[in-house]
Amino acid sequence: MTHWQTLSDQHAAVTERKITDLFKASDRESDFTAQAGDMYFDYSKTNIDAATRETLLALARDAQVEARREEMFSGVHINETEDRAVLHTALRNLDGDAVMVDGENVMPAIHDTLAAMRSFATEVRSGSYTDVINIGIGGSDLGPAMAVRALAPYHDGPRCHFVSNVDGADIADTLRGLNAKTTLVIVASKTFTTIETMTNARTARAWMTDHGGDPQKQFAALSTAQDKTADFGIDPSRVFGFEDWVGGRYSVWGPIGLSLMIAIGPKAFDAFLRGAQAMDVHFRAADLQENLPVLLALVGIWHNQIGGHATRAVLPYDERLGLLPNYLQQLEMESNGKGVLRSGADSPRHTGPVVWGAAGTNGQHAFYQLIHQGTRVIPCEFLLAAEGHEPELAHHHQLLVANCLAQSKALMQGRSLEEATKIAATKGFTGPDLDRQARHRVFPGNRPSTTLLYPKLDPFTLGQIIALYEHRVFVEGIILDIISFDQWGVELGKELATSLQPVVEGTKDASEEDGSTAALIDYIRRHGT
Ligand code: F6P
Repeated sequence: MTHWQTLSDQHAAVTERKITDLFKASDRESDFTAQAGDMYFDYSKTNIDAATRETLLALARDAQVEARREEMFSGVHINETEDRAVLHTALRNLDGDAVMVDGENVMPAIHDTLAAMRSFATEVRSGSYTDVINIGIGGSDLGPAMAVRALAPYHDGPRCHFVSNVDGADIADTLRGLNAKTTLVIVASKTFTTIETMTNARTARAWMTDHGGDPQKQFAALSTAQDKTADFGIDPSRVFGFEDWVGGRYSVWGPIGLSLMIAIGPKAFDAFLRGAQAMDVHFRAADLQENLPVLLALVGIWHNQIGGHATRAVLPYDERLGLLPNYLQQLEMESNGKGVLRSGADSPRHTGPVVWGAAGTNGQHAFYQLIHQGTRVIPCEFLLAAEGHEPELAHHHQLLVANCLAQSKALMQGRSLEEATKIAATKGFTGPDLDRQARHRVFPGNRPSTTLLYPKLDPFTLGQIIALYEHRVFVEGIILDIISFDQWGVELGKELATSLQPVVEGTKDASEEDGSTAALIDYIRRHGT
């Protein structure tokens, strides 16, 4: 029997079992938790028991997670469809060994680029810049945007803005009110061909010229394509390059993180890298059963592929991690949203989950109703700091903590019909009305969640958190036997947008389009300008 089959059987056997009953084993809270440094991961509020965990670990071992992990760290071309190594870990290998890619040690160039970024960031921070705009999209936006917001208490540099959408509203709203003479524009694009980014970059350049700024001096670029940055007219001294073995969604650790470095300073950026490096060390060294990325991945597999729960909610009880769900959407869904195995055969099972979420406590007043009483089970992942950054508002943090812990408890415990009936009776309901009212107040419970705790959301911890999720995605991808590092699924839409552009502009007729698209274009032509 395969481990997949064993897991399905184990799942079928425990569907009626209460998670609360698992706590009759006195050591569950220590047995079903693990730590990486100061970070504490609790997966005890799931229906995973020791036997299931053994099978999940066997699944990981059989998939060769350990050997494949070493392939990644040592520069093997595991991005097979693009024939590339996957080495974002080298970007944070601050004092580690040589990292060889195709026979060459890439560390000296990484250190040189980091040194150049540090001196540029220092110059920008001490100069007359008031604002920095990062123009990029996807991985060239989400990482730095999320991290800049997450580390707001550490900002001591110019204000940072992020423009990503090709919708002119994004750049127009950002430029309004900025001083073109004191704004630095960073064009962030691995390929330097992405239509959204190049369109926004040209608009920003025209704005700067029109408003007395000097794009020759006030533009910088982050890219692997230095020929294209030169064509755009960006001085090579303000171009920070990286290699194609850094995937877009894994790129915040290098030049794409420049806006973050400018915001928080090179020293704090170093701490961010060190946090990620610490997680790399943990991922490579810890036993699978104690290994946080592996455990997160196995919990994910148990809920998604085995339990059939198609989505996963990420719920940071940390306002400044408000963009983490968006960031993880790209990281997880672009990496593991695949339909075929490495071999090209169809995947026999569902692959990556739908990832979504929002910061608590806001979500509680929006979508938690469905999480608690809806017909679908949504596995939840809570994140929480032991300490906030506002000591003068400690009571806010205490309330935040109480709410976070209350949610995972409520999801697990639920409320029975008997309890609900007692509550409804105290409201004065009687007879058939009492039963009807009580049924609306029942919580099924037994809904799984995990909780990730960390001391405080500082640069080191943020580095740990992001690297933890990166490696989780890697492990899930290995177990699912898919390629997590390409993204062919974004190509078709891009191609069709290019071919539709002349139709939208009116220089080509819509006769070759399908009926729906032709009618939509007709409406837009009639109602647009
Ligand atoms: O959406 C596809 C994608 O290629 C992402 O993987 C990437 O992060 C984003 O576009 C931006 O690409 P670039 O950095 O090359 O502009």
